[in-house]
Amino acid sequence: MQIDARTVKKHFENSMSDYDQNAVVQQICAAKLISELVKISSSFTNVLELGSGTGLLTKEFCSSCSFDSYTANDLTARSKFYLDKILRKYDFICGNAEKIKTNKLFDLIISNAMFQWFSDLKKVVDNEFCPMLKSGGILAFTTFSPDNFKEVRSLTGLSLEYKTFDELKEILSEKYKILYSEEFDYIMKFNTPLELLAHMKHTGVNSLGVKKWTFVDVRNFCEKYKELYPEISLTYSPLIFIVQKK
Ligand SMILES: C[S@@+](CC[C@H](N)C(=O)[O-])C[C@H]1O[C@@H](n2cnc3c(N)ncnc32)[C@H](O)[C@@H]1O
Repeated sequence: MQIDARTVKKHFENSMSDYDQNAVVQQICAAKLISELVKISSSFTNVLELGSGTGLLTKEFCSSCSFDSYTANDLTARSKFYLDKILRKYDFICGNAEKIKTNKLFDLIISNAMFQWFSDLKKVVDNEFCPMLKSGGILAFTTFSPDNFKEVRSLTGLSLEYKTFDELKEILSEKYKILYSEEFDYIMKFNTPLELLAHMKHTGVNSLGVKKWTFVDVRNFCEKYKELYPEISLTYSPLIFIVQKK
């Protein structure tokens, strides 16, 4: 199931003050993405960052790369509060990254932990992002594969419609040359299922379903989790792609 942008925005706005302390995997993804990107290039003219959030990726990027102009985007204007502390000068486009309208051409479009919410990823990368890239421009992003939060899915049936590593490779290879790709798992452990739920809430990744959970839903979830996953483990399965417009 894909979740509408309004719900994603609401969950992120509620999580932003706790996000950086809890976003362990998103921080690893941002660091890995930049360490691979700089092997390809570390100097850019026009950069567009999608889903900038609290600026985890922005910080990583700015500490290793140079650029002439930076444009950031997020569903929520609150992202600007964080970016103002990182970037001296930048443009901000508030709204859905799937519908950005700009006349600027970019040599880098970059994004961390956001593409999993697109309702039609192929349409977005082919019809929206590709035309915004200069010839030879780079699209560098991280997202997640279907094993992401597999424990939660097995208990609730709730999951986003993640693409597999191979599906993404196929989707991208029509208009882009794949320069780097990686998939890995990262397993987090918690003391209790409630702690795990709090972690998901504080990172805004509780945008898995539309229905609000009742007290009984939470209690049943916690009991089943302890029974099936006594170590209270939660699997993250990130994907990293750096591709170049053909
Ligand atoms: C998991 S956070 C990642 C934030 C940041 N990129 C990082 O490195 O930590 C995802 C961010 O993407 C934003 N987002 C989600 N869907 C979006 C969309 N369709 N368009 C623009 N921003 C979106 C959310 O508001 C949130 O700030």
